Amino acid sequence: MSIISKDIQKAITLLTNEELVAIPTETVYGLAGNIFSEKAIKCIFKTKKRPFFNPLIVHISSVDVLETIVSEVPKKAKILAKHFWPGAMTLVLKKHKDIPDIITAGKDTVAVRVPNHPVTITLLNQLPFPLAAPSANPFNNISPTKPAHVERYFKNDIKMVLDGGSCKNGIESTIIGFEDDEPIIYRLGALALEDIEAVIGAVRIKNKKEENPDAPGMLDKHYSPLTRTILTSSITKEIKKYPNKKIGILTFNTSFKSDAISYEIILSKNKDLQEAASKLYDALHELDHLNLDVIIAEKLPETGLGNSMNDRLQRAAFSN
Ligand code: TXA
Ligand code: MG
Repeated sequence: MSIISKDIQKAITLLTNEELVAIPTETVYGLAGNIFSEKAIKCIFKTKKRPFFNPLIVHISSVDVLETIVSEVPKKAKILAKHFWPGAMTLVLKKHKDIPDIITAGKDTVAVRVPNHPVTITLLNQLPFPLAAPSANPFNNISPTKPAHVERYFKNDIKMVLDGGSCKNGIESTIIGFEDDEPIIYRLGALALEDIEAVIGAVRIKNKKEENPDAPGMLDKHYSPLTRTILTSSITKEIKKYPNKKIGILTFNTSFKSDAISYEIILSKNKDLQEAASKLYDALHELDHLNLDVIIAEKLPETGLGNSMNDRLQRAAFSN
């Protein structure tokens, strides 16, 4: 029997009983549990096979309850929250003393966001506790953007995927931390850097060398299909390197008609980066289930969400 259901009441019952429910958000599906239930939170880590040193994002119903999660809100964080919540932006701020250490992996900061999905907002409004929710995929796999992706991963491990349809944005939230009250991007994502900068001015992106090894969402290899994946600016050149192989192609807007290709997915014929982002993970899930020898992905334009998508594709392609 399918674990996919639209029954919000059932989700409330399960979550209240310290069980997990996969929830829809505008970015990707999350594997959710009560932040104050040690049992539920441990189960999240176990189900995902996620190491305990990788902290979770707390999902709240509105900015009004932010003060119960964090102890300090820098001025620019207030502006960002006002501007982009509910939405695909996670803020990393000094944690409130009541937030359990297991959520933050012992750090003195906590990641928090107000998701922009009507089903999950309704759910959060009816629960007396916030939800911790990492993306609902096994550690290092592709994030799910449809209920069926989650079901495929976890049908034997969890009781319910709350059905909210396909995720509109299709790529994880942009994570912004603060150092000396100045914002710094920890993870590029569904909210474009340009949109953030239009509101608070220039923002630094944490570069790889200073990366914090205890935030594995930012490790080199991540978001990976099992099939070998290549990222390239020239599909035509790359195809020639794999004669007699089953090749799957992921392109931005143009079709590469060639007998050498077994399967092709075009992300947006209209060159719309938002449309491409919303389809990216679904396309990778699909290509990964075709028994291909190699997936060759075309680098996206280096602007707006194109940079966020290239970031994910680079990690998918890292040393495999
Ligand atoms: O769009 C999203 O953000 C989705 C949906 C479900 O909300 N969630 C998501 O969660 O992508 P997850 O766990 O897959 O990625 C969260 C990232 C991890 O890379 C983690 O290391 C980082 O956030 N993170 C969490 N708390 C942090 C903290 N206190 N400091 C730095 N990084 C943190
Ligand atoms: Mg994840």
